[in-house]
Amino acid sequence: MNESKLHDLINSMTLEEKAAQMSQVVSSFLHEGSGEEKITGPFAGMEVANEDMSGSGSVLGASGADDLRTIQRAYLERSRLGIPLLFMADVIHGYKTVFPVPLALGCTWDTEAVEKSAAIAAKEAAAAGLHVTFSPMVDLVRDPRWGRVMESTGEDPYLNGVLARAFVRGYQGDDLKNDQSKLAACVKHFAAYGAPEGGRDYNTVDMSRRQLMEYYLPAYEAALDEGAELVMTAFNTVEGIPATGNKWLMRDLLRKEMGFDGVLISDWGAVQEMIPHGVAADNREAAIKAVTAGLDIEMMTPCYIQHVKTLVEENVIQEALIDEAVLRILKLKNKLGLFENPYRGADRELEETVTLSDVHRQAARDTAAKSCVLLKNDGVLPLRKDRNIALIGPFAESTDLMGPWSIFGAEEDVVSVRTGICGKLDIEPAVEKGCDIEVISFEQLEAAVEAAKKAEVVVLALGEHSEMSGEAGSRTKIKLPDAQLQLVSELRKLGKPLVTVLFNGRPLDLHGVIDESDAVLEAWYPGTEAGHAVADLLFGDTNPSGKLTMSFPHSVGQVPVYYNSFTTGRPHNQIPSEYRFASKYLDAPNEPLFPFGFGLSYSEFTYSNVALSSEMMEESGTIRVSVDVQNTGAVAGEETVQMYVRDLVGEVVRPVKELKGFRKVHLEPGETKQVVFELDEESLKYYHSDLTYTYDAGEFVVSVGPDSRNTEGRRFTYSPAIRVRSAVGEHTTRVYGEERF
Ligand code: GLC
Repeated sequence: MNESKLHDLINSMTLEEKAAQMSQVVSSFLHEGSGEEKITGPFAGMEVANEDMSGSGSVLGASGADDLRTIQRAYLERSRLGIPLLFMADVIHGYKTVFPVPLALGCTWDTEAVEKSAAIAAKEAAAAGLHVTFSPMVDLVRDPRWGRVMESTGEDPYLNGVLARAFVRGYQGDDLKNDQSKLAACVKHFAAYGAPEGGRDYNTVDMSRRQLMEYYLPAYEAALDEGAELVMTAFNTVEGIPATGNKWLMRDLLRKEMGFDGVLISDWGAVQEMIPHGVAADNREAAIKAVTAGLDIEMMTPCYIQHVKTLVEENVIQEALIDEAVLRILKLKNKLGLFENPYRGADRELEETVTLSDVHRQAARDTAAKSCVLLKNDGVLPLRKDRNIALIGPFAESTDLMGPWSIFGAEEDVVSVRTGICGKLDIEPAVEKGCDIEVISFEQLEAAVEAAKKAEVVVLALGEHSEMSGEAGSRTKIKLPDAQLQLVSELRKLGKPLVTVLFNGRPLDLHGVIDESDAVLEAWYPGTEAGHAVADLLFGDTNPSGKLTMSFPHSVGQVPVYYNSFTTGRPHNQIPSEYRFASKYLDAPNEPLFPFGFGLSYSEFTYSNVALSSEMMEESGTIRVSVDVQNTGAVAGEETVQMYVRDLVGEVVRPVKELKGFRKVHLEPGETKQVVFELDEESLKYYHSDLTYTYDAGEFVVSVGPDSRNTEGRRFTYSPAIRVRSAVGEHTTRVYGEERF
């Protein structure tokens, strides 16, 4: 349908019909006489009622080709204008073939793997009739107390942006109308939801506008630049105003400055939550704030349905604002081809064919293996397949391995660690739970100790159950539960090699695990193919290559701890350690236990010959940064070579280093490759105190290495020609260091 017809359609709509397009409900609200669905959340018991929500323009959370065709057909039969429903859902890291949680996907540093995971998720979900996914979540995270760090790709703006692009490409492809295996992507949560005070979900976010622009916005910008069709607002406040009603954030920043003209949808109930937030007295005022801020679709609460009509009739809000919102919604439906085919993609036979196909499972298995991070290996890994193994722990046979936001995945499809290991061994391993996730019994422990005594090596499968992270999954203690630490401690006493595999949704305080284990593999939540991927790694059929994208603190007392921090005026590493008055702790180091970018391999990689093509970067020039990487190990492996930049003197304080590039290289044993990065002035830009995004002349250090801690640096000068105003008028000059000429 062409755009002029969309305008004609809008002109023919009543205010009630326009308000309906701006409301989203779960599917049961649309079934006649439903009543079982009540509005949930912090406003339970508030002024809501099913009949308010009978009109709607989109449906949340339903899936299944037949069901969605039924809902669409019933809806269109009742619809005066025949405007089809949009079907949206949280397909966050896979649909029925569940991939690793996004924090794990981030640890692959593999844009192709991430894009492929999103494409497979879209293919399965589109066949099930879905049109939109509420993904990618690109909130930068620095606080592992927050349960939703599992849903982010980590603590770095640059890497989050690169991966956000990969997600959007995978979901959307380049022809949403004609490629019915794709979904529209909804980037979330706008903005800075990943920085709640205390790591407590839904809590206040308060930061300078410059901090927001420098660290939290880049990944949203990248997703939008890649063409994400929707944005979802965040629950939190930004500068004291809830994002969903924040006019500066949404109209001035998102729409005007960032140029977003797609659909802006609230998070679940976030419009009405402006009442408990204390910035709206009732649904009516919440509706005014949300419309004024530019919110197009209200998710799951009735403020728009109840008040848009009267607010326009009373001239409290202009109908033009409503028409603008409805036009964006209809444009999205049009982009998806729903006016021509309201049943776009929904195909039961295709759904049954593609979901959980062998090809999809293999992709999930390969990606899961790439997402695991080898944190420690004292030589016990890889395991030989002829060894007598005891597999112990609450995750030994668990299928709770998909993690949060795997709502369409089924545990019965998940490969357990036991199944994965048994598939590798001639001798069945002894398997004991040893304890539950949070409690241990004498009998469990005794059986585990007995099994371990008979084994040559013990594989421990430990972690958090998936309800211990994810939305509303904030924890003040980020260690493994005491029951599991007791199990580790008792087994350690036997003196057997201990290999610990961790299943968790956040960086953990690994006291009681890291020293007690001879090897530690961070597996996160690997998804449907978890057991196969873990076994591939444990027995060396796959060489670990994952690298952390979020720091592991020594303890929660260090939080927030992240690699791109500032030196402060009392840098502890530039002041004699005996000197008290430095920026440090009395009882812990400043550095994390494992830094951003860290991950071991069964290969050994050495770096040498770091060189720059020049020590001077001219305006619009580039510097080639090269390094030789050799695999001095005995097995082929993949290394992620990282490049960081430091601005030695800025107009504002600048991080000790910032990721500005990375390369994945495959190296055979003994092989050396030269890895080359092109560094240009774009990489030197940052937000100045007046919020201009630009670069300065000056001295920089570029460094390369296997992680953010072990790098080797080289200095260079950036000397752009700058406009100098002087008595003789404006002219261009060069700046080298301090001299001007
Ligand atoms: C949830 C989440 C959001 C999700 C939405 C719909 O509360 O915050 O990420 O997309 O509701 O399920």
